[in-house]
Amino acid sequence: MSTDLKNVEYGMEKIFAEAEDFLPLNGTDYVELYVGNAKQSAHFYKTAFGFQSLAYSGLETGIKDRTSYVLQQGKIRLVLTTPLVPDSPIYEHIKKHGDGVKVVALWVDDATKAFEETTKRGAKPFMEPTKEEDENGYVVRSGIHTYGETVHIFVERSNYNGVFLPGFKKWESHYNPEPVGLKYIDHMVGNVDWGEMNKWVDFYAKVMGFAQLVSFDDKDISTEYTALMSKVMTNGNGRIKFPINEPAEGKKKSQIEEYIDFYKGPGVQHIAVATDNIIETVTAMRDRGVEFLYVPDNYYDDILDRVGEIDEDLEPLKKLGILIDRDDEGYLLQLFSKPVVDRPTMFFEIIQRKGAKSFGKGNFKALFEAIEREQENRGTL
Ligand code: FE2
Repeated sequence: MSTDLKNVEYGMEKIFAEAEDFLPLNGTDYVELYVGNAKQSAHFYKTAFGFQSLAYSGLETGIKDRTSYVLQQGKIRLVLTTPLVPDSPIYEHIKKHGDGVKVVALWVDDATKAFEETTKRGAKPFMEPTKEEDENGYVVRSGIHTYGETVHIFVERSNYNGVFLPGFKKWESHYNPEPVGLKYIDHMVGNVDWGEMNKWVDFYAKVMGFAQLVSFDDKDISTEYTALMSKVMTNGNGRIKFPINEPAEGKKKSQIEEYIDFYKGPGVQHIAVATDNIIETVTAMRDRGVEFLYVPDNYYDDILDRVGEIDEDLEPLKKLGILIDRDDEGYLLQLFSKPVVDRPTMFFEIIQRKGAKSFGKGNFKALFEAIEREQENRGTL
């Protein structure tokens, strides 16, 4: 079933009709992280997350100033890039932010038009439309800035048959841990500064033609200490969903503020990846060393009263700490990793949707209390 049909089936056509079509997006193309040591990060994402070796660029492919490893699982492509020379904007990025997401690349049919339409509407250019080619054909890429130092790159690849992009070769490795069942990126969340959520909501609406999907205010998502506001922006076919968070006043420091303090500005907070079997996926990831947030056991005491009947046995969900939430259209299962870097910044969410189109609002309180326990341990509350 296509995404479009699903949206009609679930009665969301109104929302998507509001999204403009001047920027048709086929999906997420890749996510690029700037990291201090791409070789070791690649090993981590293969071992712990089950990503597969896909492509490589560096000295051996004639690139002198940086090395990139491309990993794939399902439709998800991660690019891990590290600089080879000290005088590099990539180093400046890492020095300021630590390891983090630099590029959220979007797959388009026409990267030149995507650049023109978005810059015409006020986007700050990052990369003029650029044709790159090799013996496998050509791609056109262009790019614009979004929040913080994060950028969107538009990738037009219909005339390219190579393994990833020109300049990359196939990455052959004898070390290929099994995938853990990650299928695609469900959503990617941006943390922005105090009072800036609506500015970036407007950016995605006006510059990129997105529509707002769900909204909730800080009264919905606050605990004794933490508070935040969040709005979800989606493109016209619903394949791209970007929740935007800003910190709100609480008794102590909001987790969003903690992120911004350590990332030194706005950036990607979490990448939510979908699975068809969260119990198997999380079991495998835990066995391979991924650390997840835990909610107290009493979270499960009255859970079925709150979310109703579910297909899964409760016991394995409880054992793994998997959270459950329900909306009008179904339910979802989700679990959040601890930060995957040393600064308390970026983390992953594992999500399995069973009809629900929302983002687990019912879990935020339990989740934030779990995060606050971590903040307490870090002394950053
Ligand atoms: Fe999420």
